[in-house]
Amino acid sequence: MRYPIAMRVIHWFTAIMFIPMLAGGYFWLRAMPSSDPQKLDALMYHMAIGVFLVTLTLIRLVVRLRVAHPENTGLALWVHRALYLGVFLMPMSGFTMVFSAKLNEIVFARSGAALPADMSTITGHYWHGATALTLTLLILLHIAGAFKDRVTIKRMI
Ligand code: HEM
Ligand code: HEM
Repeated sequence: MRYPIAMRVIHWFTAIMFIPMLAGGYFWLRAMPSSDPQKLDALMYHMAIGVFLVTLTLIRLVVRLRVAHPENTGLALWVHRALYLGVFLMPMSGFTMVFSAKLNEIVFARSGAALPADMSTITGHYWHGATALTLTLLILLHIAGAFKDRVTIKRMI
């Protein structure tokens, strides 16, 4: 049995977007000083795409509840649950940063106020980075599991 088409489309779209989000967060956003004129745009794209991906995952979960789909057991079941949880913890820690440093006003409303000089001191930053790292490891485990046999990968294509 294959996953329903809506789940497959959303899964692959999320998979393609998630990897640049992680790499972009680590190697681009983190390395960019708050004084960089491109920082506001970079944060705006990062935050908007992040919210979009989480919304898509929510839609995928709703479809999952309503339509017949393959069932998982054992390690795969727990890795999938952890992936769903991780995907929801990312915006929660993200929004903690947004509200504690008023990033919505600075980034989206372009209030003109300066970004915190050291972004890593914002409440939630540590948890956002720690969740991203845990998700990276889980995704690697997930990819290894997905290619374990052809039956597994065929369910999602
Ligand atoms: C798909 C979900 C997301 C992923 C994979 C992701 C990934 C990352 C990563 C890897 C970092 C760098 C962490 C570090 O410095 O250790 C980061 C930074 C950040 N993310 Fe996200 N993120 C996501 C969603 C969001 C959302 C929804 C928001 C806000 C609404 C957000 C706001 C931020 C902010 C403010 C930073 C700090 C940037 C800086 O240090 O200059 N992220 N993100
Ligand atoms: C190249 C990367 C990826 C590959 C090859 C891949 C492959 C697969 C496959 C084959 C399945 C079906 C597993 C089964 O039925 O036993 C699956 C399910 C799943 N994948 Fe991925 N995946 C990738 C990336 C991601 C990413 C980045 C995420 C989220 C951050 C993710 C989240 C999930 C979840 C939550 C399920 C379970 C679906 C459900 O039962 O509701 N995957 N993936």
